Amino acid sequence: MNQVSSHKVILSGKSNIPLAKKIAKELGMSLGKCEVKEFSDGETYVHIGEEIKGKTVYVVQSGSIPANHHLMELLIMIQAVKMLQPKRVVAVIPFFPYRRMEKTIKPGESLTFALIADLLHAAGIDKIIVMDLHKHRSKRFFKFQRKELRAFSVIIERLRQKKLHNFVVVAPDKGSMPESKRYARELGVPLVKSFKTRKKHDEAIIKRLEGDVRGKDIIIVDDEINTAGTLAGVVDKLKQEQARNIYFACTHGVLSGPAIERLSQMRIREVIVTDTIDIPHDKLIPKIKLVSVAHSFAEAIREDR
Ligand code: R5P
Repeated sequence: MNQVSSHKVILSGKSNIPLAKKIAKELGMSLGKCEVKEFSDGETYVHIGEEIKGKTVYVVQSGSIPANHHLMELLIMIQAVKMLQPKRVVAVIPFFPYRRMEKTIKPGESLTFALIADLLHAAGIDKIIVMDLHKHRSKRFFKFQRKELRAFSVIIERLRQKKLHNFVVVAPDKGSMPESKRYARELGVPLVKSFKTRKKHDEAIIKRLEGDVRGKDIIIVDDEINTAGTLAGVVDKLKQEQARNIYFACTHGVLSGPAIERLSQMRIREVIVTDTIDIPHDKLIPKIKLVSVAHSFAEAIREDR
């Protein structure tokens, strides 16, 4: 393993310390000293106890639940780092908060993704390293250097271990089609398209499937699982159409609201998610299988100049 430069320091917020530690370990480093805690009124206290003047500092923080709190923690950490005169500050955000709000649907809605990009810019970051944004075009809001990593290769590796036969990849909605197509091509199987509408934020209705699923094993691929409404809708439809064993794979395991209850009741074999989000123990039901993206982030930090 190439030793990483002593001019690099990795700090972690509280959202995903296990991933931050794994990234540091991959690089033969330890996390830098940094105290992050809450006052009794909920405000955040940060103290950087590391010598960082003239160094490049990587601040690892996911925008996971509670998103607003973790975002604020990140901004405060960046400000504390900047005051110690580092050479550069890189925000490492495995799961970008509000990643789905990169467009408005009706007048009067906020464009929250753009706001967060502006806040990071104002806080003074030089670069961002993220994984699987919702839409690649959302990167246009970043007024700093950016690197978007993909979970594709680690997920593909896990799927190959399944040794499935007679299976298809299902794209749960229009937005997921390009990525699902990539999975299908890589695995050498057909792509089945599913057409989704929503009446409420956390419920999905699958209008129809385009492609043959009867008697087949299925891999549904998406970028995130949030309330599991999309997955529940697709699984119902697949069962109606007599699909066999169903697997699901995605990058971000948000798992909010009714997700765990839905997953527990769902007739699905496995839910493969990465560790961009630190999933609490009470949500880690046996059908959830974790794959780590630490190596991808470690390599991005190693290569960063
Ligand atoms: C939507 O555009 C995304 O790609 C996911 O399909 C969606 O975020 C999943 O959310 P939920 O699990 O709440 O249906």
